[in-house]
Amino acid sequence: MNIQRIKDLPPLPQRAPDSHKGSCGKVLIIAGSPGMSGAACLAGMGALRGGSGLVFVATPAAIQSIVASVNPCYLTIPLELDSDSQLTSESTAHLLDQLPGFDAVAIGPGCGQHPWVRDLTVQLYSELEQTLIVDADALNSLAALETPLPDAAGPRILTPHPGEFSRLTNVSIKDISADRETHAIQFAQKHQVVLVLKGAGTIVTDGTQLAVNQTGNAGMATGGTGDVLTGLTTSLAGQGMSPFDAAQLGVYLHGLAGDFAADDLSQPAMIAADLLDYIPDAWRELI
Ligand code: APR
Ligand code: MG
Repeated sequence: MNIQRIKDLPPLPQRAPDSHKGSCGKVLIIAGSPGMSGAACLAGMGALRGGSGLVFVATPAAIQSIVASVNPCYLTIPLELDSDSQLTSESTAHLLDQLPGFDAVAIGPGCGQHPWVRDLTVQLYSELEQTLIVDADALNSLAALETPLPDAAGPRILTPHPGEFSRLTNVSIKDISADRETHAIQFAQKHQVVLVLKGAGTIVTDGTQLAVNQTGNAGMATGGTGDVLTGLTTSLAGQGMSPFDAAQLGVYLHGLAGDFAADDLSQPAMIAADLLDYIPDAWRELI
């Protein structure tokens, strides 16, 4: 198959003067677990900085107040878990009831590998009609299934780092690293998804188009930067961008924010939360 190499950025989401928060995309980020509340906050903030009108963060009830107290601009939804680490039926019903109102949904950052994460990931993957961004422990949950990836009910963006991609494909990190493009393209074609294979020169491909990102730097090799990307990409998908375009622009803005952060703060000192402060400068380069 002929692969189209994409060099140009896609058109940005338009923000008309009479926009209101209902017209700028409402997104849901399912993230966090005790000890990893920061992942939920970083992803939620990434979605806000991406331009979403409304950002909801669904997180285990035990850490809801921690997540909510980090920033007042996203809303939180508590996930009630039972003693088997499954969502209670009331909590599942409450969450599923709200799903039709979201323009895009993400699952995975800091969720841990619990039964509720596995079951909810599989359910959303196979039933959600909107774009679903699958990251981190949601990817690990899919990789641990004894069955192949479920059939998707809507567009899917998978954002593995090489370790997560290795678990998904059963190909060693060494072999993946030897030919990142081919592995990414083959996976995207086989599973009909947008694959974001992260790392220096992040690859975005839907199996027919391929973009190799040129922004970003080694200062971004610090915990939590991927969570910010998940929020940013979800936000752009929720503003009506196609899954490929949302992933390409999200990766570009994320890397550019990282480059500005490194310029001001240095690569060693920059941390994931700094990316949130430099996303505005990255947007300004494009607007
Ligand atoms: N050059 C450019 N970009 C880089 C570089 C580099 N040298 N190193 C890292 N990055 C970028 C990646 O492209 C990606 O966008 O930083 C981000 C790192 O994302 P992750 O690898 O997902 O890291 P992290 O955010 O810490 O993940 C948090 O989720 O994926 C799991 O196991 C992970 O538990 C951890 C959690
Ligand atoms: Mg990650």
